[in-house]
Amino acid sequence: MPMSKLTAAITAVQGYVPDYVLTNEELEKMVDTNDEWIQSRTGIKERRILKEPGKGTSDMGAEAVRRLCAKKNIDPSEIDVLICATVTPDHQFPATANLIADKAGAVNSWSFDIMAACSGFLYALETGSKFIESGKYKKVVVVGADKMSSIIDYTDRATCIIFGDGAGAVLLEPDETGHGIVDSRLYSDGSGVVHLHQKAGGSVKPASHETIDAREHFVYQEGKHVFKFAVTRMADVSVEIMERNHLTSDDVAWLVPHQANLRIIDATAQRMGLDTSKVMINIQRYGNTTAGTIPLCLWEWEPKLKRGDNIILSAFGGGFTWGAVLVKWAYDTPQ
Ligand code: UT7
Repeated sequence: MPMSKLTAAITAVQGYVPDYVLTNEELEKMVDTNDEWIQSRTGIKERRILKEPGKGTSDMGAEAVRRLCAKKNIDPSEIDVLICATVTPDHQFPATANLIADKAGAVNSWSFDIMAACSGFLYALETGSKFIESGKYKKVVVVGADKMSSIIDYTDRATCIIFGDGAGAVLLEPDETGHGIVDSRLYSDGSGVVHLHQKAGGSVKPASHETIDAREHFVYQEGKHVFKFAVTRMADVSVEIMERNHLTSDDVAWLVPHQANLRIIDATAQRMGLDTSKVMINIQRYGNTTAGTIPLCLWEWEPKLKRGDNIILSAFGGGFTWGAVLVKWAYDTPQ
């Protein structure tokens, strides 16, 4: 008998969001905006903010990993590899994944970061799945975590209304029954940098008094331009992954879209022929948590997911980066 192919199954999922709720009403007092505009243009009502001084992305990621292990009843020392997707690392170096592993007690893992902005979780999931498929590693944890409030200019109404803080984590384990990450299509186009980036703080323009004065350590986004790319690329790649796998809209149980803008999500679902009842949407409560959005959705919807469900994860983000991953869900959550 030939050995059956190993796939990387998601066998547990966990999220973490900080307690502080930043509402549209509070933003109205900070910048010239209003609840009606924010809700109608983005779908967002509130977002979470990590307020405690001295806390960073790794603290949210570590909390997600701790709770993931407790829930799955495994010891963090069993984790072989820990990957963190983030654009808001605790430090320029070392990797936030190293800090998460330390704080969560993943003492036997090696760990590294992946930076692909809003597509970061998908990039990290694809990478993690290959470690499992190789047969060498049995437990890989993929974290998507961002403290976007650390790089948001709260005097810029075009960006400060969109983003929030949060983290999610999944456990990947080998599966021989065809469940787990079954296909993916990932893309990048670095020429998109001009439309969405952080101007200073990297090697091109290290921090200086001038960069601080010019407010260049924040997210710079040409919203309209990014929107146009996002809405076509995310829909295209989601349809591509369906076609590659001969899936009709009836075959797809769930779409898990990156939560950047409700209008982008709706357009993607429409192109896929999916009813909104099959689309995970929590943007109204968390806003855009960058690498956190997709695992936070999976965490929230976990009780509804059934073994065998075809789930399409889809994202677009800074870089530009974009992609879609097809997951055959591996377990029923005990009720
Ligand atoms: O996360 C991955 C990558 N990012 C994305 O996918 C984000 C993609 N872009 C977007 O979601 C949208 O472009 C935004 C939500 C950022 C902006 O929405 P928009 O419908 O594209 O608005 P806009 O930038 O075209 O601005 C329309 C108007 C402007 O006023 P004028 O020039 O028409 O008078 C803006 O100044 O709305 C104004 N505006 C606001 N008004 C009230 C911009 N921000 C605000 C605000 N409140 N917060």
